[in-house]
Amino acid sequence: MYPRMKTLVLYTFSITLLACFLYLKKEAKLSASSADEKVDVPTPKAQSVVLDNAEPSECLPNLALANSSLTLPEFHRVFLTYKHCRNFSVLRKPSRCSKEVFLLLAIKSSPINVDRRVAIRNTWGKDVSIGGKRVRLVFLLGRSEAKSQVQPLHQLLAYESQEFDDILQWDFVDNFYNLTLKELHFLRWFVEDCLHARFVLKGDDDVFVNTYNIVEFLHELDPEQDLFVGDVIANARPIRNSKVKYFIPESMYTATFYPLYAGGGGYVMSRETVHRLQSTAEGMELFPIDDVFVGMCLAKMAVTPKNHAGFKTFGIQRPFNPFDPCLYKGLMVVHRLNPTEMWIMWTLVKDNSIRCAVSITHNYGRGWK
Ligand SMILES: *[C@@H]1O[C@H](CO)[C@@H](O)[C@H](O)[C@H]1NC(C)=O
Ligand SMILES: *[C@@H]1O[C@H](CO)[C@@H](O)[C@H](O)[C@H]1NC(C)=O
Ligand SMILES: *[C@@H]1O[C@H](CO)[C@@H](O)[C@H](O)[C@H]1NC(C)=O
Repeated sequence: MYPRMKTLVLYTFSITLLACFLYLKKEAKLSASSADEKVDVPTPKAQSVVLDNAEPSECLPNLALANSSLTLPEFHRVFLTYKHCRNFSVLRKPSRCSKEVFLLLAIKSSPINVDRRVAIRNTWGKDVSIGGKRVRLVFLLGRSEAKSQVQPLHQLLAYESQEFDDILQWDFVDNFYNLTLKELHFLRWFVEDCLHARFVLKGDDDVFVNTYNIVEFLHELDPEQDLFVGDVIANARPIRNSKVKYFIPESMYTATFYPLYAGGGGYVMSRETVHRLQSTAEGMELFPIDDVFVGMCLAKMAVTPKNHAGFKTFGIQRPFNPFDPCLYKGLMVVHRLNPTEMWIMWTLVKDNSIRCAVSITHNYGRGWK
């Protein structure tokens, strides 16, 4: 009796185990196949690109434009899909400009470029007053693109904003193709919060600005007159090679030449011109290259950007001696410097014992009048 009972128990137990095993196996297979299905669902490429970049905001992608630009590089397609989205909120802004501000330094930076902001704050962006004229520094930023950086950079910018009161940040992704959005939002902020500033220098965070020469150059000019001065290029052609960063297909710009425009590395404007630029820009379609976009607005306003030899935004021709102090004493804006080079320039420019033959600003001042 006893052994038979034992066999029965063992038998029932084995059956149960087997049943359990089969059940689990079936479940595993089911879930695996449903996972496969999810992966296999075909997603049209254009749509996935659009969805990946979509922000949880009210501005919806323009799918018709997305569909009609399938042959363009991804960034151009994203640009066209979201071109109509031009109202983004301010994430951080500095206090309003006081009535005394003579020169506003508005510098395009991106959240990760903290080393460049530190260098600028401690060198050419340091003086709050030059020859009795008030100078104010503001950095223009969007949001970081990399998800992993969002939190630490958010904290860093909160600190910088509190400590230096020079952070102006908006809720759009900070990348090359969104620089025109940055331009538009900067103009809006200026009109709202900084319209007292007499002149504006707009530039990149890798330029060296000789603020002394800029102030000297501007000090007798009238902020109520149009003024736009920089490194102006004429007859620039749109680049039609899709492998180049500045590629612009015919579908986005048909003419052979761009209008006159100044290199975005650094140019100066009067308050009047900035004000008029803002109202003009509101009525223009966005164009992905920000300095060309400004050139288009100027053309519409019938303002001719003036060239000045002291603005070297397209780089200095080599060979030159990078440690020739007179080179930098005479210049207004020099492009493409790293933070260390900025420190060196600054030391040289500050060194009053260095005497250089002629100042470029004086020469220009004579020709200007
Ligand atoms: C764009 O293409 C998608 C997918 O091919 C389609 O569902 C959508 O209706 C198209 N939209 C327009 C406005 O043509
Ligand atoms: C942006 O705001 C302006 C005025 O506030 C409005 O006229 C325009 O329609 C808005 N554009 C979009 C795309 O929301
Ligand atoms: C510009 O920023 C917006 C908002 O963050 C984003 O949806 C869009 O994809 C960006 N444009 C480009 C061309 O990356």
